[in-house]
Amino acid sequence: MNVSFYGHVRQYHNIKSEIDANIHEVLESGQYVMGPMLKRFEKELAAYHGTKYAIGVGNGTDALWLTFMALGIGPGDECITTTNTFFATAEAIWIAGGTAVFVDSDPKTNCIDPAKIEAAITPKTRALVPVHLYGQCADMKAIRAIADKHKLLVIEDNAQAVGARGNGFRIAELSDAACTSFIIQKNLGTFGDGGAVVTNNSEVDRIVRKLRNHGSDKRSCHSYGFNSRLDDLHAGVLSAKLKHIDDGNCQRRKWAAQYNAGLAGATRFTLPTETAGYHHVYHLYVIETKEPRDRDAFLSFLNENGIDAKCHYPIAIHQQEGFPWGKQARIAGAIPNSERNAACCVSLPMFPELTEEEVDYTIAKAMEWDRRG
Ligand SMILES: Cc1ncc(COP(=O)(O)O)c(C=O)c1O
Repeated sequence: MNVSFYGHVRQYHNIKSEIDANIHEVLESGQYVMGPMLKRFEKELAAYHGTKYAIGVGNGTDALWLTFMALGIGPGDECITTTNTFFATAEAIWIAGGTAVFVDSDPKTNCIDPAKIEAAITPKTRALVPVHLYGQCADMKAIRAIADKHKLLVIEDNAQAVGARGNGFRIAELSDAACTSFIIQKNLGTFGDGGAVVTNNSEVDRIVRKLRNHGSDKRSCHSYGFNSRLDDLHAGVLSAKLKHIDDGNCQRRKWAAQYNAGLAGATRFTLPTETAGYHHVYHLYVIETKEPRDRDAFLSFLNENGIDAKCHYPIAIHQQEGFPWGKQARIAGAIPNSERNAACCVSLPMFPELTEEEVDYTIAKAMEWDRRG
């Protein structure tokens, strides 16, 4: 049996009529950039998050650095984040001209460990940038409390957790803005690139809107800016898919429960944990080998048996060759948990359109490897 890592085409087939109808509507409208479909999707996205504003941009990386710029983060400003994230989190800090400061992650959630943040704060610190890694929210209540105490901005990297919730808080509720990615493999993904900022801050809304459109909010009047808009065709695809995001996340949670039950007896790898009271949306289902030296062999075993398992992310940012490429960066304290996560992680196939048989087969093969000792 072959189990693929992504189910994009299956998802398309399941909701084809809705996606096709929206694409058709855009094509017939004659307005493909900053048109009515983008406006409609921005309204829907803001309503979904319970925020006042949503701004569609070119991709998730742009969503981050446009937000940093809108909040005045630039050269000399330190932003605290983690190294076990997709590269773009740090990249966006550097594009804005800031200094990326890396602290360790929590070994249970792999999100930023709030207990490590305060020791990293200096007079230059301007912002905290938690990443809701793998689909589970970081501890935003603790992060908000630290930000309030030290008067810092908070920007959530929510590329991986649309629809997730914490214990008593929603994404974008306890921050200045949350930034998401709509690249196809995300829980809410389009057939290409896209991104958005959701916020309750009217200045972030106003400035990001201008920055994404050549510094313009009025025809022929410009200030400094860029070209980073979410195309209307993508907005149409996303508008159709947004209606199904909660069902999709619910199905991901069911597969995660099936994996958890089937893999519970494993002795050579550990399973992901959901923090009590949180709503994890399993963008990725990531297990960790207990021994770093086992990881590559485990991954190869799964791949050789037709299971397209992957690693997110096998080389932490600070361990990438050439780090930090002439950019400003500081590692604050030891970061053994982030390094361990990078060395041991294995992502099993996880998408709503998986079948029962595919999940069972993946479990059987993972347990076969586990028993080999
Ligand atoms: C945690 C994280 N941050 C940022 C990004 C950047 O998003 P994009 O690829 O849309 O630029 C991604 C995904 O690609 C991501 O996973």
